[in-house]
Amino acid sequence: MVTEKIAKLINEQITKEQYAAQYYLSMSAWFSSKDLDGIANYFRVQSKEELMHADKMFDYLNDVGGEIVIGEIPKPPHEFDNATDIFEKALEHEKIVTKSIFNIVKNANEESDFATTSFLQWFINEQVEEEASASQYVTKIKMVCDNPSALYLFDQELSQRVFVPAAAN
Ligand code: FEO
Repeated sequence: MVTEKIAKLINEQITKEQYAAQYYLSMSAWFSSKDLDGIANYFRVQSKEELMHADKMFDYLNDVGGEIVIGEIPKPPHEFDNATDIFEKALEHEKIVTKSIFNIVKNANEESDFATTSFLQWFINEQVEEEASASQYVTKIKMVCDNPSALYLFDQELSQRVFVPAAAN
C-alpha cells in the first residue's frame, strides 16, 4: 500500500507521461507537415512509448492499492522554430521527466517504500537511455539540418524505428 503522498506523485507522473506523449505527437505533426515522414515516425513511436510509461504507472498504482486520479493534460506547443529546435526541446523535456522521477524516488526512499523504489528503477534506467538517445539526435540534426542530402538520409534512418511494446515493459 502506498501513502497518499506517493500516490499523488505517481498520479502526477502519469499525467506528465501523457503530456510527453502529446508533446511528441505535436512534434511528429510538425515533421509530417514538412514531408519528413521518417522523423515524424520517430516522434510518433516516442509518443507511443510515453503512453506505455503512463500505463505502467497506472497498473502499478492499481496493484499497490493507490487511488488513481486522472489529471488534466495541458495542451502542448505546436509551433517550433526548426528541426533542431524540436530535438533540443525533446532533450530538455526528457531532463524534466528524469528530475520528476528522481523526486518520486527520493520521497519513496524517505518513506522506506521499497516497492515503489524498486518499481521506479526501470524508469531510472529508461531515462538514462532516453536522455542519451535524445542528446545524440540533437548532435545529428545539427550535422544534417543544412544539407538536404544528409537530411534525406537521416529521415530514412528514423523511418526504421518501430514501436516494440516489450521494450517498454
Ligand atoms: Fe516517459 Fe520519455 O519519459
